[in-house]
Amino acid sequence: MLVKAVILIGGQQKGTRFRPLSLDVPKPLFSVAGFPIIQHHIEACVQVPDLKEIIILGYYPAQDMSGFVGEMIQLYKISIRYLQEFAPLGTAGGLYHFRDQIRCGNPDYFFVLNGDVCADFPLIEMLDMHKNHRSEKSPVVTLMAAEATRQQSLIYGCIVENKESKTLEHYVEKPSTFISTLINCGVYIFSTEVFQQMASVFQQKQIDYFNVESGTSFEREALYLEKEILMPLAGTGRALVYQTKKWWSQLKTPGAAIYANRHYLQLFRQRRPERLAKGDEPQIIGDVFIHPTANVHPTAVLGPNVSVGAHAVIGPGARIKESIVLSYSRVLDHSLILYSIVGSNSEIGCWTRVEGTPCDPNPDKPFAKMENAPLFNDDGRLNPSITILGCNVTIPSEVIVRNSIVLPHKELTRSYSNEIIL
Ligand code: GTP
Repeated sequence: MLVKAVILIGGQQKGTRFRPLSLDVPKPLFSVAGFPIIQHHIEACVQVPDLKEIIILGYYPAQDMSGFVGEMIQLYKISIRYLQEFAPLGTAGGLYHFRDQIRCGNPDYFFVLNGDVCADFPLIEMLDMHKNHRSEKSPVVTLMAAEATRQQSLIYGCIVENKESKTLEHYVEKPSTFISTLINCGVYIFSTEVFQQMASVFQQKQIDYFNVESGTSFEREALYLEKEILMPLAGTGRALVYQTKKWWSQLKTPGAAIYANRHYLQLFRQRRPERLAKGDEPQIIGDVFIHPTANVHPTAVLGPNVSVGAHAVIGPGARIKESIVLSYSRVLDHSLILYSIVGSNSEIGCWTRVEGTPCDPNPDKPFAKMENAPLFNDDGRLNPSITILGCNVTIPSEVIVRNSIVLPHKELTRSYSNEIIL
């Protein structure tokens, strides 16, 4: 058996809610729990025994991805390629455009993973379900689904399944009224037959565009997995639903990165404990990742749920909790970082406090997901959120920066609260 995987990463115009963190690094390469977001996808893929190739599909310039791809090949010793779409082709347009590359070597199945989700990916279980399903019709797709709250379900693709046969009965993308609390997680396994369906949707689109004589060339080639492939498959018995109870979340906003950081660190504790820091000097509380090249003073206290990037320096008496400190940053003596992201190459002076407000899913609501709250509330004021320092930001000693977003290359001179510093 031969299996491949495709990771959809979009391009520069996507991921805008992740700014300012995606201003200096493509969002899929932003570091969560010490590793680029899509490296977590790659790690899940390489666990699948028959998986022989990973294709990363997006419209970022190839030079933005080549270093990362080279490193991944060396690390995982598997074929990994980046294929660049000439324009945003939608969630299925790139799959169709590069169909010959995906079909090359005759894979039996291929996974498609949205690059902007994070999860304890149940890929082996999905593959088992897809290939062993006993029914007259062989499945074209098995999609991963999870339970959400009634209210939150409206911002996702909603699934109605036949509980007995586990088939997809009905699918609506971001419905305006309630359909179901079972949502699409953006992780699929396809049989290569799906390309026939894509071909007919594509051809119909060319005829439609030809008749109305409008649309740019890339609009004509764009295809959307959810609306144009999944929706027509609903009710045919050829789409299966794999419901997971494991952790899954979207990664749309910087606040979601803090939440994902915590969960990936937790997974490391179960499966890769050697990746987590231990010890009393510096004092480590709970799950903490410290890059081997980082320099943390023995009197610093870190954790729970902290990641410290390459070549970062954490000074004497510093205290960091529920935060991500990126590479080459310096947190000087006795400063405190709480619910914040410190961009790369930033410096925080001595006795300074950088603090944000967590935006975790509501713990009182079963199945609640991240809210991805808008930046501003109805009064035009900034909603409380984590504090984000872009890259190359300098914060002086003895100030407080609370619930604020600081754009890259800023040198602050005083304290700030609930502000965006442009
Ligand atoms: P939003 O709420 O608008 O963000 O929609 P969504 O959550 O349904 O996400 P969307 O469908 O836009 O994207 C799903 C995944 O596909 C993400 O990982 C995107 O980066 C990726 N994606 C979106 N558009 C494209 C595209 O044109 N090409 C490629 N290769 N990937 C894409």
